[in-house]
Amino acid sequence: MSIDDLNLPNGLLEKLKNFRNNLLNRTSDYQHLIGNKGYTSENQEIVSDAVIALLMGKNVLLKGPTGSGKTKLAEYLSFLFQQPLHSINCSVDLDAEALLGHKTITYENGHSEIEFIPGPVTKAAVNGHFLYIDEINVSKPETLPILNGILDYRRTVTNPFTGELLKASEGFNVIAAINEGYIGTVPLNEALKNRFVVIEVPYIQGDTLYEMLLNQSEQKDEELLKSFVQFSADLVQQTSTGQLSEDAASIRALLDAADLSAYMPPKRAIQRAVTDKLEDQRERTLIHNIADTLFL
Ligand SMILES: Nc1ncnc2c1ncn2[C@@H]1O[C@H](COP(=O)(O)OP(=O)(O)OP(=O)(O)O)[C@@H](O)[C@H]1O
Ligand SMILES: [Mg+2]
Repeated sequence: MSIDDLNLPNGLLEKLKNFRNNLLNRTSDYQHLIGNKGYTSENQEIVSDAVIALLMGKNVLLKGPTGSGKTKLAEYLSFLFQQPLHSINCSVDLDAEALLGHKTITYENGHSEIEFIPGPVTKAAVNGHFLYIDEINVSKPETLPILNGILDYRRTVTNPFTGELLKASEGFNVIAAINEGYIGTVPLNEALKNRFVVIEVPYIQGDTLYEMLLNQSEQKDEELLKSFVQFSADLVQQTSTGQLSEDAASIRALLDAADLSAYMPPKRAIQRAVTDKLEDQRERTLIHNIADTLFL
């Protein structure tokens, strides 16, 4: 899909093209952080609405279960805008230094100096790039509010280590990802959530899933890939009635199963990539039975 296929409303396509042209004229040390294509969805609005929000300078929160393509989508947005994507992987250990940067002592010509090594927030803000905050609800609740200022209209943050007021350059934007049911997550602080436009990213299905498998999987047998698509539909159906946990239908795990099936029988591939991750015996038996109806 190219930017002309995004069906952007009047004026916005021009804006995106201008944005890209301005960037393309700039040389950057961060070319390697520009993402690539790869995200697909039957729902065109997922990509186009995210593009619209970013073009309007709004922060985007991608919300969906594990392996639904949130990171792929963030990389695709980086590709569409030709904007380097600086990433933060949230963890309970995440602190202000990991976000903004830290001081270190360097030695040059015999004397020592204190140097500030910028973190991802500082790099993205100074250069006017995109910032990707992955698993935003895994960090400690007190860490992220430091970013509130940079996420709202002020687009500024005071660096507690240097005392400097950091003002984001034009082009700076934030994309975050959240997986709400995930163990170890905490409900996202309301004030933080409030600063984002939310885009739901569900598991892809049907023809889109088939095309994605055809492009990305090691397994090239079209009939077998169709069975994997049906397998996924059955899993999604069972998750919707609560018989299976949502993550059992992860597209990442499905892709792993399809890949493995290039070199082992599909039912064993499913066991390794999907079934054996689950702890609940009842869920495992259910998946086993579904696989039995579809694969030899
Ligand atoms: N809609 C999609 N388009 C393209 N690839 C997809 C899509 N959904 C899933 N995938 C594939 O599934 C895998 C997982 O995708 P990704 O890492 O983006 O998921 P995620 O939502 O970020 O998961 P997590 O919450 O665990 O980080 C990747 O290999 C990706 O190629
Ligand atoms: Mg991810």
